[in-house]
Amino acid sequence: MKLVIIGGTGLIGSKLVSKLREYGHEAVAAAPDTGVNTLTGEGLAEALRGAAVVVDVSNSPSFEEKAVMSFFTTSTQNLLSFAAEAGVGHYVALSVVGTGRIPDSPYLRAKNAQEALIKSAGLPYTIVHATQFFEFVKRIADEATEGTTVRLPPVLIQPMAAEDVAKAVGRIAVGPPINGTVEVAGPQQFRFDELIRQGLGARHDSREVVADSHARYFGAELGERSLIPANDARLGEIRFQDWLGQPMPLSGGAPQR
Ligand SMILES: NC(=O)c1ccc[n+]([C@@H]2O[C@H](COP(=O)([O-])OP(=O)(O)OC[C@H]3O[C@@H](n4cnc5c(N)ncnc54)[C@H](OP(=O)(O)O)[C@@H]3O)[C@@H](O)[C@H]2O)c1
Repeated sequence: MKLVIIGGTGLIGSKLVSKLREYGHEAVAAAPDTGVNTLTGEGLAEALRGAAVVVDVSNSPSFEEKAVMSFFTTSTQNLLSFAAEAGVGHYVALSVVGTGRIPDSPYLRAKNAQEALIKSAGLPYTIVHATQFFEFVKRIADEATEGTTVRLPPVLIQPMAAEDVAKAVGRIAVGPPINGTVEVAGPQQFRFDELIRQGLGARHDSREVVADSHARYFGAELGERSLIPANDARLGEIRFQDWLGQPMPLSGGAPQR
């Protein structure tokens, strides 16, 4: 089966392409580096020719309010129209648990707009809602840092390894479209401040992490369960402590933790 992975050179995309190829599928990594640009449409018609499935795991280079909205709406509109033209039978997109209930977050508003376009396009689709990736811990901390203090609300979070995200998306991509949303999450729940404290501690980052119920997460105040999936979420296997024990990359390119 031919599957085109939009963002196939990124954190999730590169793992997904490898896994699909291991199972004997023709997985095409589509990204600006391979000559495919969803913002301009460049290379999309060629990449999608003969594809049964398109999986969108691309991401906006900027999280700034206007830029991120423009990225997800423009790229999704282009992708949907090229996919329809190519007769793609399953449109899969990776999004975030809680997109619909955290409207203060510009990033999640843009993901919501992406989802709305997919739902109204008339193509068979599956939206995958994942929780925060372990690989995202440092970026979360950086965003929440003032001086040497990281402020985060002590709400529940159920993060997962990028490896488990790619596995879940791969299984969904080779299955039938459900024309709805599937939630995937990690095997354990944490308090948000505690997760980030453990993550920074493991990399000998001396910043102090403080629990503050009004601290914002990428612009949004969170409720106790804003980031938590429903009870029927599919759970990954990799535990945070085991993931932290893996060797750290020595230099750029590889995922940061
Ligand atoms: N981070 C989290 O905790 C989290 C949680 C749940 C869901 N998600 C979702 O997971 C998805 C993937 O995230 P990620 O961390 O794997 O992203 P990533 O590592 O930043 O990779 C993004 C990919 O998108 C490609 N891309 C950027 N602009 C493009 C364009 N105009 N046309 C085609 N491809 C383009 C990039 O190519 P270049 O590198 O060449 O620019 C790269 O291959 C995102 O949609 C995000 O919303 C993230």
